[in-house]
Amino acid sequence: MCGIFAYVGEEQAAPILMEGLSALEYRGYDSAGLCVGGRCVRSVGAVEQLRARLGDTMLAGKSGIAHLRWATHGEPSEQNAHPHADCGQHVFVVHNGIIENFRELREKLAAAGHRFASETDSEVLARLIEAHRRAGADLEQAVCLALKDVRGTYGLAVSCAEEPGTIIAARMGAPIVVGMGERAHFVASDPSPILAHTKHVLYLEDGEVAVLTAKAHRVFSLDGTKVSRDVETIEWGVEQIQKSGFDHFMLKEIMEEPDVIENTIRGRLIPGQGRAKLGGLDSVAERLAKVKRIVVVGCGTAFYAGQVGEYMLEEFAGIPVEVEVGSEFRYRTPILEEGTMLLAISQSGETADTLEAIREAKRQGALTIGIVNTVGSTIARETDAGIYNHAGPEIGVASTKAFISQLTALALLTLFLGRQRTMSEAVGKRIANELLALPLKLEHILLQHDELCALALRYKDARDFLYIGRKYNYATAFEGALKLKEVSYLHAEGCGAGEMKHGPLAMIDKNFPTFAIALQDSVYEKMRSNIQEIKARRGPVVALATEGDTGLADLADDVVFVPPTLEMLSPILAVVPLQLFAYYISVARGLNVDRPRNLAKSVTVE
Ligand code: F6R
Repeated sequence: MCGIFAYVGEEQAAPILMEGLSALEYRGYDSAGLCVGGRCVRSVGAVEQLRARLGDTMLAGKSGIAHLRWATHGEPSEQNAHPHADCGQHVFVVHNGIIENFRELREKLAAAGHRFASETDSEVLARLIEAHRRAGADLEQAVCLALKDVRGTYGLAVSCAEEPGTIIAARMGAPIVVGMGERAHFVASDPSPILAHTKHVLYLEDGEVAVLTAKAHRVFSLDGTKVSRDVETIEWGVEQIQKSGFDHFMLKEIMEEPDVIENTIRGRLIPGQGRAKLGGLDSVAERLAKVKRIVVVGCGTAFYAGQVGEYMLEEFAGIPVEVEVGSEFRYRTPILEEGTMLLAISQSGETADTLEAIREAKRQGALTIGIVNTVGSTIARETDAGIYNHAGPEIGVASTKAFISQLTALALLTLFLGRQRTMSEAVGKRIANELLALPLKLEHILLQHDELCALALRYKDARDFLYIGRKYNYATAFEGALKLKEVSYLHAEGCGAGEMKHGPLAMIDKNFPTFAIALQDSVYEKMRSNIQEIKARRGPVVALATEGDTGLADLADDVVFVPPTLEMLSPILAVVPLQLFAYYISVARGLNVDRPRNLAKSVTVE
């Protein structure tokens, strides 16, 4: 959410910054801008519009800062686009986060004669730095003093026309990664724009500042204490953040799903013993054996993964589980008694709501575990231990392969915790063997992409859509609806099939289609009854059925098949046709699949 990129080195900065912005575009596309050599160019819209605005403008200079905005304070406009400058156009700032006390600071600064050009909270940062410089501080001191004045969250980069060889970056609650090139340094919100230049990075922690020149870097905390931080190596290759011949990242990422499962389970199963081996949990294995209750926290797709996990963990590990969205968790009075563990699920590892839930759990002394895709991210670092998804970078704003990997990781965790408790070896072996069989089954589903495309064309003009499921596929229904909403802007609702009769059935008529997940599992007969109820109201039904089930063809208008698997693993297969259906509807409606309006990847504001 909001993307920052900065460069200082020996090359011309502008082309490097533009290329970096393209790689970061999934983080925000309301407006874009860059500043090189004390000159800013900004535009509404995404990188292409900025490129057009730049035209032949030569921005000469070997350092600069750039930004992609996801609007919080102030509409997407050129005035509100970053970089923001001080009154004298000397200091420039790009910012991701929210300055909570910006109104009060703005009033004070305005009273002191500062004139504001935008409605953003971020502009006060440039003005505060200016105020401290006017009072005699050098750039570095002025940045630190300004950061002490603000309350809220920031990941930022600062440049100054009078010190063109220096970039200053700082972090509080919004991620900042520093790329360590050869005679060059980079600053970014995540590693993707850095990968083309170097795989060596260091992550800033909250309250830290980095001062970067082409040849040197210095990291210190806001109180001035020097910080020495290990340089880490990013595992991702640059090809993983490219479309590689696919029309969209969303399609590429769905097509990667068989590999994703393989990568998530690689080296983590002992099928002969029916066990999971999770190196990331070794350090807390004894504490895990004593866990009496699990609270799962996540947002959006990660929350739905958590809901599937609840069924897995309760049925097979015998541990009571509650699942909650991160944005609500800490606003009630969560009670995490001894023996409660918090399990946070997050693709980006940066979601502010989830992160705050972890911090609350830690304050209460609970063990915190993460299922996180992004290595080195804040959630990965702040949890006590965890399982990396190994899904590779997810660029499409709508989460697809990450969901598959989250479910797979939850199945591994269930196996791990279950075998620590009462799960028999036979059950463990069955789960392990079925996990190993999933990639092939998933490949088989993906072969049906043409049929799903045709199905999408038949339903693309529906205005509303209902998704229903029960038990393990209760959450799958909500995830299917979320995918459709996000990428097609159609009204879609998830509903527990058993809840239909308590209200939602009233919406059903011949124009309101339902996607019913009706696999041959323990709730199959109930699902059939729910489909009958919809058909009796003339609602069109697309049924998701188990291969070989001929009994749904008469009942439903359309049937999509997935191979049989264990009920607990069935959401991993069932969600794939729902993802493809949403994708093809979005394409058929001519929408921007990878960058749905109003959204951005990695939600680092609360
Ligand atoms: C949906 C989607 C979002 C994210 C949510 C949590 O397609 O992408 O709902 O799942 O913002 O993000 P992470 O997993 O990064 O914490």
